Amino acid sequence: MAHKITLIPGDGIGTEVTQAVVRILEATGVKFEWETFLAGAEAFEKYHEYIPKELIESIERTHVGLKGPIGTPVGGGFSSINVQLRKKFELYANFRPIQNLPHVPTRYPDVDLIIVRENTESLYSGIEHEVVPGVVESLKIITEKASTRIAKFAFAYAKKNGRKKIHAIHKANIMKLSDGLFLRCARTVAQSYPEITYAEHIVDNACMQLVMNPYQYDMLVMENLYGDIISDLCAAFVGGLGLVPSANLGEQCAIFEAVHGSAPDIAGKNLANPTALLRSSLLMLHHLGEHDAAEKIRVALEAVYRNRDLLTKDAGGKAGTSEFADSIIAAMQGGPQGLKPSI
Ligand code: NAI
Repeated sequence: MAHKITLIPGDGIGTEVTQAVVRILEATGVKFEWETFLAGAEAFEKYHEYIPKELIESIERTHVGLKGPIGTPVGGGFSSINVQLRKKFELYANFRPIQNLPHVPTRYPDVDLIIVRENTESLYSGIEHEVVPGVVESLKIITEKASTRIAKFAFAYAKKNGRKKIHAIHKANIMKLSDGLFLRCARTVAQSYPEITYAEHIVDNACMQLVMNPYQYDMLVMENLYGDIISDLCAAFVGGLGLVPSANLGEQCAIFEAVHGSAPDIAGKNLANPTALLRSSLLMLHHLGEHDAAEKIRVALEAVYRNRDLLTKDAGGKAGTSEFADSIIAAMQGGPQGLKPSI
């Protein structure tokens, strides 16, 4: 039976990377039925809606989305489609594994971090207003319900996957009430998992500690804005935004997307690296129970990364987006000699 997936190609490089990933997914032999929808500025031009209701209905039906990046105007205009979808479907856990790929030159080898970011509240609620001209208030919302829910997610994942240590990241020395509540919830949940070491780091110190020695961390759990910033910082350990995956997970639905944006500077030039969305699609395959297909792509991806010439320009190679996808498919199907490790 085919898996029904809501596909949101997005804009900028979104169409190019999603096309590449869809081709690779289909080459695994797993059957998919894609329900494809525009969102953001392009959807508004066509349908006068930033998120067409058919798109919402599709996710309600399929429960699974694969999404390319969507541009968000800065300092005005419509609010982020990503944030709206996360809120609409209560995709409360943003899950970002940070792991190296072979032969990508990085500051640190063998990084293996999991970042769990609360995805529905904090300053990301975007509740702002002008109190009087020249004074703007932005509300940071932290609730016991959402903080407990994300801590439970992190600890349950750690237990199931043999992770040993969780750091809660906070600024409760200054935001005593909001981050204080987040910490209290994390501490309470931690008590039910005595086998997992629980620790706390203040967010500014955590940034410094991560850059000095990322190996001291295993899993990190934090509220929305800190998670946004720290997960990009950690992406730099393994080669940058073009390489790291993410999943937005809720009780009913899940949306898998790359961490990077729509990269308007390289859009339409066959330069985009689809690796981040491809790795996100591996999380999707595991979510769908298609573990063999995920493993097949992972092995092919690593084989391709051993041959620098087959990579896209940002990763030091010469290939375009579509040629990169061709190489992954070739590697999955046994692969020509060219895919053998170049070492
Ligand atoms: P960006 O991630 O689009 O680009 C930053 C830099 O990284 C650019 O030089 C770009 O060429 C490069 N880059 C990004 N992805 C790449 C890839 N797959 N392959 C090769 N190079 C890649 O970030 P920026 O410029 O801050 O944002 C552009 C737009 O994307 C904005 O409108 C922003 O709101 C939106 N955005 C959307 C996200 C989403 O839909 N999840 C996430 C982040 C930003």
